[in-house]
Amino acid sequence: MPDAKPGTVYLKDYRPPAYLINRTELHFELYEDCAIVSSRLHLLRDGSVAQNASLQLHGQELELLSVAVDDCELSAAEYAISADSLLIYAVPEQCVVACRTRIRPQANTSLSGLYKSRSLFCTQCEAEGFRKITYYLDRPDVMSVFTVTVEAQREHYPVLLSNGNLSEVRELAAGRHRAVWHDPFPKPAYLFALVAGDLSHTQDSFTTASGRQVTLRIYVEERDLDKCQHAMRSLQQAMRWDEQVYGREYDLDIFNIVAVDDFNMGAMENKSLNIFNTSCVLCSPEITTDSGYQRVQAIVAHEYFHNWSGNRVTCRDWFQLSLKEGFTVFRDAQFSAAMGSPTVKRVEDATLLRTAQFAEDAGPLAHSVRPESFMEINNFYTLTVYEKGAEVVRMMHTLLGAEQFRRGSDLYFERHDGQAVTCEDFVRAMEDASGVDLHPFRNWYAQAGTPHLTVRDEYDAVRQCYTLHVQQSCPATPGQLEKLPFVIPLAMGLLGAAGNLPLRQTGTAGDVETSDNTHTVLIIDQPGQTFVFEGVTERPVPSLLRGFSAPVRLHYDYSKSDLCALMRRDADGFVRWDSAQVLAIRVIEEVERQLFTGAVPLVDPLFIAACDDLLRNESLDPAMVAEMLRLPSEEYLAELASQASGANVDTIHKARNIVRTALGSALVESLLARYHSLDSVLAYAPDAEQIARRSLRNTCLSYLVSAGPHNLELASRQYELAGNMTDRLAALKEIAFYGAGGLRDSTLNSFYQDWRHEALVVNQWFQVQAEIPDSQGLSRVQALLAHADFELRNPNKVRALVGGFTNQNPVNFHRVDGTGYRFLGDIVVALNGLNPQIASRLLTPLTKWRNYTGRAELMRAELERLATEPALSPDVFEVVTKSLQ
Ligand code: BES
Ligand code: ZN
Repeated sequence: MPDAKPGTVYLKDYRPPAYLINRTELHFELYEDCAIVSSRLHLLRDGSVAQNASLQLHGQELELLSVAVDDCELSAAEYAISADSLLIYAVPEQCVVACRTRIRPQANTSLSGLYKSRSLFCTQCEAEGFRKITYYLDRPDVMSVFTVTVEAQREHYPVLLSNGNLSEVRELAAGRHRAVWHDPFPKPAYLFALVAGDLSHTQDSFTTASGRQVTLRIYVEERDLDKCQHAMRSLQQAMRWDEQVYGREYDLDIFNIVAVDDFNMGAMENKSLNIFNTSCVLCSPEITTDSGYQRVQAIVAHEYFHNWSGNRVTCRDWFQLSLKEGFTVFRDAQFSAAMGSPTVKRVEDATLLRTAQFAEDAGPLAHSVRPESFMEINNFYTLTVYEKGAEVVRMMHTLLGAEQFRRGSDLYFERHDGQAVTCEDFVRAMEDASGVDLHPFRNWYAQAGTPHLTVRDEYDAVRQCYTLHVQQSCPATPGQLEKLPFVIPLAMGLLGAAGNLPLRQTGTAGDVETSDNTHTVLIIDQPGQTFVFEGVTERPVPSLLRGFSAPVRLHYDYSKSDLCALMRRDADGFVRWDSAQVLAIRVIEEVERQLFTGAVPLVDPLFIAACDDLLRNESLDPAMVAEMLRLPSEEYLAELASQASGANVDTIHKARNIVRTALGSALVESLLARYHSLDSVLAYAPDAEQIARRSLRNTCLSYLVSAGPHNLELASRQYELAGNMTDRLAALKEIAFYGAGGLRDSTLNSFYQDWRHEALVVNQWFQVQAEIPDSQGLSRVQALLAHADFELRNPNKVRALVGGFTNQNPVNFHRVDGTGYRFLGDIVVALNGLNPQIASRLLTPLTKWRNYTGRAELMRAELERLATEPALSPDVFEVVTKSLQ
């Protein structure tokens, strides 16, 4: 671990590379204690950039065995090695630099570079892992054609994979064998991949629109061969969809996916050799929940879509990360919407954004979609770069319309194919293709913070005239005190007694044409603006931010009856859901105030009646009813409270439970009726209709259990009879959370005994227990750390147990004695040395310390303790120091 304080890298310091690497030849010899990597880099100096004849290559944790230039081995006087580079004092303008290095994949616990996941050799090179494999220009604007030779013992590593096409296989002496792979597409080193191990595969094919046949393979352990079907189908759907919606065809004859157990992220888009966390590829009805199925479909598609948005056109530097990630998240969201329920998908995305990204944007680590500086790039794979970045692309789609947006993406791919480019290049292609001026829109890339939109209205009954006054503002964020106005598409309509009203706007400059005259998109681009609608025959309720048309905080003073009206009758599904959420938040906040003043808590009957209507209305999509009945999470309630006077986790927890119980008790009849009518005898399928039914049925179960312990009977029966993991886990969760000790323990035990051989299920078992909100929450998790199946080195297990606790068990994490914080601090210290990326990500909940009334000091104290730890990784150091500033 470097002792020196990590430096800060600035976007403004970007310089093009002094050398190109036209060709890269790599040779791997894999052994049981090390790997020997030999490279031949065909370099060409760019005279317009190079200051002199020296060459500096990136490299970390490498043991250099030899280095040669044009086949002449260099003496020690001709180069210098530091902790993260190899400096060769002079090389010719055009030359071949060859290095031999020894690395130790077996000792690599950071899961970055070449490492071993159980018996498998695999790589993870994004963002800067390649430099842990060999000395290189490890930056995304250096693109090279790779030829890779892999040699290993045949018995234990029968499968040898890398990017591109297999060009040679050969048996070698002493039971070893060799495979040579050649990737014809130039790529940056972060897209390099290598896999060697004893894997089985399933195979299928895809015929592209132009008639080329592509072989598709998913490599897994033999025991998981029966869990690949859904991922394979998702891949085929994604390939077809990208042809139909973006005109993008796949470009090689082979596409491989490999599943590995130990992986820091969900999956990685290496050219033609995607590497996946097992949790993001394996599916079967018995072990995977509906949301698991949906996640696999979305991630398979996401990584596939990167083949164009990321690989063929890549990022110039890591400040441009959102160029590929924001755009690709937008593309996978469009795909998921098309494969399932678009409104439910939008609700899920808006919830994630509002709960977690808005919090990031309001906290000490706030940064823009295109950050200006970083210490450790791994800390910038954030909700802002990903989710807000996707919203920024989505807003361009809204502003341009689908057709012009497609022209823009066509131009972008055509203009920049084979290049490493910037967010600016993306916006310019959109502008050039559509003729729409996006100049002021660019503020979304440069400015951090979530804009507030405050809306007031007036109705003039005599002139039948309705006026909206819209104001925007954006709070200061670290390093950005003043903000320029954002360009905000505000999708809206007006709701009257009999439905949405036709819109006739005075002076229509600035609005976006839509075919339906009850819907429009107002363009908010000034600090204050007024919009007037004529011929409005009654006082309407405004339906605002339809479809969550922009990532902003909307403020409009709705009455409860306004909300009920929108919830029941607005044409926009997102607004109907959002109105139910806002109403629920109001009702919970009322109970919080009653708790605070010592009054008897009363849950507004208006809310209960509205929920009853939803439950009884069988013409509505059950998936949407489930979403509308779902109470806002404690995390989101805390985020909202932090915007006002600060969050009190205990009151939030209590008040939310009171509302839950009141709803459950008042609606027992409707809940039971719906619970039983949604039962199904169909064989499990992860299709939208079945998923919707299970979602609402399990929501009913949860409310029924909250209504009284006698309903745990229902949960136990469901647990016993469940034919799939969705229903089984939903029931288990109710029993684990609310069952008496005996029932809880016996059910958890039998679940473990039934599934102990399936690591992904054991993780779900860890997570359910991590989330139990009773008074034993912390000691239970501490005990599970010592469970035989827990491993600190496996990120999935850490995320399930530790992440489940710190993110989904607020009353226990925020224990008033601070032991929850200390628990997290201790884990972070342990992981800091093993896997800095995971250590740093786990820290996120502590960085929100300023939000918590009565806890801020304790949380800060834990961060301060971490700050004094010796040998902090740059990852943890950056998060700790920035969140204390
Ligand atoms: N390129 C990333 C994976 C990655 C991120 C590698 C950070 C190294 C460091 C990949 O395309 C990605 O974004 N994966 C997401 C899933 C996706 C559906 C948003 C992930 O792994 O969580
Ligand atoms: Zn991605």
